[in-house]
Amino acid sequence: MLFGKKKSVAGLDVGSSSIKMVELDGKVNSLNLVSLGYENLPDNTIVDGQIMELNVVSDVIQSVCSNHQINANQVVTGVSGHSVIIKNIVLPPMSQEELEESIDWHAEEHIPYDLSDVNLDYQVTAETPEATQVLIAACKRERIDNIKQAIQLAGKSPIVIDVDTFALQNCYEINYQPDASQVVTLLNIGASTMNVNIVQGTRSLFTRDITVGGSQFTDVLQRSLGLSFQQAEAVKRGVSEAVEGLEEKSIEPLMSNVTEIVAMEIQKTFDFYRATSEDNETVVQKILISGGGSKLAGLAEDLSARLELPVEVLDPFRNIKVDTRKFDPDYLSEIMPEMAVAVGLAARGVELR
Ligand SMILES: Nc1ncnc2c1ncn2[C@@H]1O[C@H](COP(=O)(O)OP(=O)(O)OP(=O)(O)O)[C@@H](O)[C@H]1O
Ligand SMILES: [Mg+2]
Repeated sequence: MLFGKKKSVAGLDVGSSSIKMVELDGKVNSLNLVSLGYENLPDNTIVDGQIMELNVVSDVIQSVCSNHQINANQVVTGVSGHSVIIKNIVLPPMSQEELEESIDWHAEEHIPYDLSDVNLDYQVTAETPEATQVLIAACKRERIDNIKQAIQLAGKSPIVIDVDTFALQNCYEINYQPDASQVVTLLNIGASTMNVNIVQGTRSLFTRDITVGGSQFTDVLQRSLGLSFQQAEAVKRGVSEAVEGLEEKSIEPLMSNVTEIVAMEIQKTFDFYRATSEDNETVVQKILISGGGSKLAGLAEDLSARLELPVEVLDPFRNIKVDTRKFDPDYLSEIMPEMAVAVGLAARGVELR
């Protein structure tokens, strides 16, 4: 660009418990962190993925921007959960035009909603003389309208609506630059949703969003020990003095029950993948975890033991230049797990400038 500044685009991750924003610049292989912000949302602002309080979300977006000098007026955001359907489908070989003309018809079979109620997108992921592999993604239109409204109310324009699990994958790709032999499972544990994405190199083999997350651990503590939400959150984060007279030994088995559910759902996802593909050879080498829910003490080790796989923490800033005079490294490493999706969205924003 000869004159003026390039338009900046921020990644905006509207989670059910908090809003995260990241702005990057540079090129896809040499990105710099420009700004980053994070603020919690009040309880019940987002229920079942639906924004119930548009004003609250738009106020928090504005507050994150003003408190963290995020000046971008355009944002890339993501959706996840039940309203999003992602499928890898195998079609006969065909031209771009033939695919474009027939995609609705092929997609209809795989999407449990009326096609007139969803936004549909697709991408050819592999082509051989025998077959065309196509990744289709559909999201309920009402969900997209809902998030767009909140963003517009905050005075920003939503230029791309991505899918959280692909933003997570984008974050992994820019930071780890995997080759085709690497098969990992990306696992983002949020407050209410867990995104699982089995990735080979830069290709997504299978994705599944599961409605289990960090809030399940909090719920169990609340119900079983008769605590308030705040008390249960504090106990979960290891501040057991938060509740007088609480027996330390009563916590562990409760947490372990939920961890078992999390591990079982991941195992089920692996089984679903095997059952729905002809692939009997691909072996997942490790799990890379992210999301606030992954910060639960001992969770990574516990999942690793239960699933018999190495579990590592995904570093969303591994390959991004960070000016430590501007961003406190301790703070950054503290909030790193929560920022993975927002970094992936922000990186997409850089591609669009
Ligand atoms: N130190 C910690 N120990 C255990 N849990 C934690 C810790 N820090 C944050 N969490 C949990 O992480 C969750 C929030 O994570 P995150 O910000 O990734 O979710 P979200 O994006 O708001 O939700 P979702 O993506 O499910 O809509 C909450 O359940 C919170 O209790
Ligand atoms: Mg999230």
